[in-house]
Amino acid sequence: MTDDNHLFLRACRREPVGRTPVWIMRQAGRYLPEYQALRRRYSFLELCENAGAATEATLLPVEILDLDAAILFSDIMVPVRAMGLDVEFDPGPKLVRPVRTAADVARLSPPDALATMPFVAEAIREIRRRLGGRCPLIGFAGAPFTLAAYVVEGGHSKTFSRALSLLHGEPATLEALLDVLAETVVRHLEMQVRAGVDAVQLFDTWAGLLSEDAYRRFELPVVRRIATTIASQGVPVVLYANGASHLLAAMAESGATVLSVDWRLPLDRVRSIVGDGVALQGNLDPFALHASPQAIKEAVEDVLRRAGRTGHVFNLGHGIHPEAPLDGVRAMIRAVKDISSDHARMEKEKAS
Ligand code: CP3
Repeated sequence: MTDDNHLFLRACRREPVGRTPVWIMRQAGRYLPEYQALRRRYSFLELCENAGAATEATLLPVEILDLDAAILFSDIMVPVRAMGLDVEFDPGPKLVRPVRTAADVARLSPPDALATMPFVAEAIREIRRRLGGRCPLIGFAGAPFTLAAYVVEGGHSKTFSRALSLLHGEPATLEALLDVLAETVVRHLEMQVRAGVDAVQLFDTWAGLLSEDAYRRFELPVVRRIATTIASQGVPVVLYANGASHLLAAMAESGATVLSVDWRLPLDRVRSIVGDGVALQGNLDPFALHASPQAIKEAVEDVLRRAGRTGHVFNLGHGIHPEAPLDGVRAMIRAVKDISSDHARMEKEKAS
C-alpha cells in the first residue's frame, strides 16, 4: 500500500496524515442501488456465506464511493450460526431457538473458526487480491454483550428485556454466556487476521443499555480480553458502541486502539473524557445525510474541527440507513476529503 492508501491505518495509530480517512459503517447496504441488485441475485445469507458474493458486496461501496477502507461483508451473527445455533434473517437476525437457561448456555462451545467459516478466510484473501493495496480491509465481530442480547432475546428488540433480566436474575448464566461468546469472537478475529485483514472492529451496538457498573462488571473484562489479544498481534482494534456516552471512560480502558462513537457527544467532549491514549472514529449523525449539500459540508467541517487533525477516522455515528440519499453520501465524502486536506495544507504552510 502507498502512503495515501495507509491513511486509515495511520489515523488509527495517531500518526500524521495528509487528510482524514473516511469510510461508512454498513457501507455495503440497501442505500446503494448496486447492493440492491446484488441482493436480487443472492439471499442475505448467501452474501455472507459465499466467498465470491461476499467479495462483490465488500468491493461495491469502495469502488462506487472511493472510500479509504473496505469492510468485510458479513454479519455479527455469522459466528453464532457457526456455534450451531439456527439464525435466520428477516432482515434482522432471528433465532429459531433462543438461549434462555443455564442448561442452554452449558450446551454451547466455541467453534473452530476456520473449519466452520472457511468462506470468511476465502473472502478475505480474494478481497485483498482484488483490492491490490488500494486501501486496507477491516474485519469485524460483534462484542459479547451485543451477541448475547440477540441470542437471549431471539431477535431484535427495543428493550432487550430478557437479556437484561438475565443479567440481574441469573448473573452467573450471563457471565458464562459472555465467556463462550468472547472465546468464539477471539477465534473468529484471529482467523480473520491470519487470512489478512489490516484492522478489526468490534461492534457493541447494545452496550449502551448497560449501566456503567454493569458494563465494567460484565462486558469490559471480555471486551478487554478480545481487544488486547488482537491488538498484541499488531492489528488496530476499533471498538464501537451506540448510545454509550456514559461508558466512554470505561471503554478507554479496554485496550482498543480506536473508539468509534455515536453522534450524541461532539468529539472534543469525547476527547476530554477518554484522554489521548486512543484514536477516535465518527461521528456524523446518520440523518445529517438528509440535509442540503451546504449543510452537510458545514456539519462535516464541525466534526473535523472538533476531532482535531491527528487520530481521527471520519465515519457516521451508526450504520448508514437504507433511506440515506446517495447525493448526501457523496457530499459528505467530498467534504471530508476537501476540508481535511485544506486544513493539512494550511498547517504545513504555517509551519514552514
Ligand atoms: O459495514 C458493512 O458494510 C459490513 C457489513 C455488515 C452488516 N452487518 C451487513 C448487513 C456489518 C458490519 C454488520 C454488523 C451488524 N449486524 C451489527 C452491528 C452494527 C450496527 O448496525 O449496529 C448488527 C447489530 C447486526 C445485526 C443485524 N444484521 C441487523 C439488526 C440487521 C437488520 C438491519 C437492517 O438493515 O434492516 C442485519 C441484516 C444486515 N446486515 C443487512 C446488511 C447489509 C441488511 C440485510 C439485507 O440486505 O436485507
